[in-house]
Amino acid sequence: MTGNNLAIIILAAGQGTRMKSRLPKVLHPIGGRPLVGHVLTTAARLSAAHVEVVVRHERDQVVAALAESYPDAVFVDQDEVPGTGRAVQVAIDALPAEFDGDVLVLSGDVPLLEVDTLRALIEGHRAAAAAATLLSARLDDPTGYGRVIRDASGTVQRIVEQKDATAEEAAVTEINAGVYVFRAPDLRTQLARVTQDNAQGEMYLTTVIELLRAEEQPVAAEIAADTASTFGINDRIQLAEAGRVLNDRIVRHWQRQGVTVVDPATTWIDDDAVLAADVTLLPNTQILRATTIGAGAVVGPDTTLVGCEVGEDATVRRTDATFAVIGAEATVGPFSFLRPGTVLGAKGKIGAYVETKNAEIGEGSKVPHLSYVGDATIGRGVNLGASTITANYDDVNKHRTVVEDEVHTGSHTTLVAPVRLGAGAKTGAGAVVRKDVPAGALAMSVAPQRNIDGWVENNRAGTGAADAAARARAAE
Ligand code: UD1
Ligand code: CA
Repeated sequence: MTGNNLAIIILAAGQGTRMKSRLPKVLHPIGGRPLVGHVLTTAARLSAAHVEVVVRHERDQVVAALAESYPDAVFVDQDEVPGTGRAVQVAIDALPAEFDGDVLVLSGDVPLLEVDTLRALIEGHRAAAAAATLLSARLDDPTGYGRVIRDASGTVQRIVEQKDATAEEAAVTEINAGVYVFRAPDLRTQLARVTQDNAQGEMYLTTVIELLRAEEQPVAAEIAADTASTFGINDRIQLAEAGRVLNDRIVRHWQRQGVTVVDPATTWIDDDAVLAADVTLLPNTQILRATTIGAGAVVGPDTTLVGCEVGEDATVRRTDATFAVIGAEATVGPFSFLRPGTVLGAKGKIGAYVETKNAEIGEGSKVPHLSYVGDATIGRGVNLGASTITANYDDVNKHRTVVEDEVHTGSHTTLVAPVRLGAGAKTGAGAVVRKDVPAGALAMSVAPQRNIDGWVENNRAGTGAADAAARARAAE
């Protein structure tokens, strides 16, 4: 692809009224990425000399969402004049005046186009020496799209928007995908002649086609073989449909790479996820963001992984995990909640009804039942008895718990952080461990209950708890 001769303009200035959303339409995500992010990702693969994104509605939000991931994109502001024609005009005005190559126009709300389709469109345009080439598709239901009107010989004459179409024109099922290649000088010339004289009072980019034809300039159209790839997203129904099509593509891609997906209909994989061969995904499983899964791992059913790293041959059942690392051959679940900063070592275990956060759990260590482990460093070969809890928060600060290698805690141990259990130490059932335990010691803390009157009012004045206590005591 002769990138030096190519400029790409991505239209993303519209409000997207039909989404009925606070979020600009082009930022609605499918496959873990905003609609316009998919367009930018595809555009980047064409190595164009210029990539411009036209913004207006909530422009700061749109720019903030994209600038970091797409540092080469230039954002161009559309003014008050509405319409796709005006959007392209401000973008072409922002190109160097001497740019005379081809301009590929893409829509921020047409996310499923593949790079091969675009390459073929540009090559066809150049081979035909056309002034403009548009991508069209034949749809059973063309409602909402602009229709491609051809003459008796099959030559494209113009595009008519649904709202401006006669009944006869509306019956045409070949639609304009909103994707075009133009010769830059012709595009500049014709845009200057486009008016807002139509049902929506907008400068339509599509008008350029009939202006070119009026001058008998060659206009070509490629009919997309894969109609789904031309889906334009205008409302939430189409958003879900496109999300489904994208997911089907991603699932099939990983199936071809050797991943078993037992139920593709209930398995959702984001675009950024990476799966090794011989991974098995069980039903109702979401593999989100840049999650990676090693060979032989079995994930699901009913599992959501967000930005996680799962090691080879690990098993993760009925689990909700975010930014967690699960080691090779480790087992997690069922009903486990892994919050950010959880790092489970190889062959480790996080079992039923266990919540973890900021917790490094060493190789072969087990947290099998009903525990909360937060802000903790757990060594190797450790077993935390059922319902062992780190009391990491004293209402003011978070503190760390350190459990050295081969420690076993009794059921219902409370580790009041900051605290350290030395290597090989043990705790009795129900122990409340407030002091460090030396290596190899047994910590017991069975004691009669003692209530310290007024402690909360004396030590936590001004808190809701102190106020409630004061009221209760006043009422006594
Ligand atoms: C447009 C086409 C229609 C085509 C359809 C394909 C026109 C006039 N119509 O219709 O022929 O079938 O796309 O999906 O071009 N935008 C701006 N500035 C604006 C208005 C829109 O940047 O002033 C952007 C939008 O953010 C969107 C894209 O242009 O990404 C298309 O706009 P939209 O309003 O969705 O056009 P359609 O009615 O779908
Ligand atoms: Ca649209």
